[in-house]
Amino acid sequence: MQSHTLNAPFPACIRRLFFTLLLSGAVTSVVAQELQPVSAESPTQGLPNVTVLGTGGTIAGTGANRTAMVGYKAATVAIDTLIASIPELNKVANIKTEQIFQVASESMTVDQWLKLAKRVNVLLAQPHVDGIVITHGTDTIEETAYFLDLTVKSHKPVVMVGAMRPSNALSADGPLNLYNAVLLAGSKEAIGKGVLVALNDQINAARDVTKTNTSTTDAFKSTELGVLGYVQGRKVYFYRQSTRKNTLDTEFDISNLAVLPRVDIVYGYADMDSAALDGQVAAGAKGIIHAGVGNGSVAAQMKVPLLAARKKGVIIVRASRVGQGIVARNGEASDDALDFVVADTLNAQKARVLLMLGLTRTTSPQEIQRMFYTY
Ligand code: DGL
Repeated sequence: MQSHTLNAPFPACIRRLFFTLLLSGAVTSVVAQELQPVSAESPTQGLPNVTVLGTGGTIAGTGANRTAMVGYKAATVAIDTLIASIPELNKVANIKTEQIFQVASESMTVDQWLKLAKRVNVLLAQPHVDGIVITHGTDTIEETAYFLDLTVKSHKPVVMVGAMRPSNALSADGPLNLYNAVLLAGSKEAIGKGVLVALNDQINAARDVTKTNTSTTDAFKSTELGVLGYVQGRKVYFYRQSTRKNTLDTEFDISNLAVLPRVDIVYGYADMDSAALDGQVAAGAKGIIHAGVGNGSVAAQMKVPLLAARKKGVIIVRASRVGQGIVARNGEASDDALDFVVADTLNAQKARVLLMLGLTRTTSPQEIQRMFYTY
């Protein structure tokens, strides 16, 4: 894991030119590395200290040309190169970078979630670290963000950021997203707000945000629950905050965890059968998120196999494939009689994150239901 301090003055116009060329692929990273500003020994007084952890994704991606908005390669550009390509950051924060992973986020693993959360907690425990930014692929940023929202043990800002266009694209969204994320992570306003996801000038809560478009730069929305605020004109604006417990206020402690219980998702659709469910239970799932149609409805043919899984000790959580709204207890299924849990407003992928952590504490459906109403 490399750590660099990037703040020394270096003619910005020269750096901008070289990093534009670098991101366009015209300049090899070797040349750019030599042009990296010499690490500043002393941080700029008065600026917050922000550590930026690179994990990969499109924000670090490269396309064959500037119009290659799809079919590019994610996770190719080093985090210190991305930071150095935005000289304006010199006036925003004293930045250290760490390349913790370099992956496309569809391949992010639970082991990597645990490693990332543990590293974040070590860094935030250091008094001189004021906030953290994590660059990440957008495909699974919402799951990683929620996992961190439940496991980070600090009220200091943790801001996750990605991009929908690769780093060398025409109108790449990554640089401004990253600039805004560093600004937000160094702000006092972001303290105590839980883990935040900041793209497209908007600030969303980790619990509520989801990817709503495969490719447009406005893909991240908290749908009906709404944004928390904006980063605009180098300023941070909050208008509300989550009502759910997060970070320091959660009961989850991953410091000594090496693995998490297996939880799978069964997607609901017309005329489904239990082949996927049976396979997941046979593979050792300790929990199943049933992403049912409508209000988490359970098809007649699924009731027996789900109950059989329950009787084997598997926790069943009724979520919905719809993506918005409350899945109400004892609504579309007799949860009390079936000993099921409901996901409240969490989508299936977020419910999976919470259930994995819940199962590290208890196997009581009643206790797990409390967690779904708390976080
Ligand atoms: N492969 C996808 C990922 O790393 C690209 C999407 C993105 O990062 O925007 O999540």
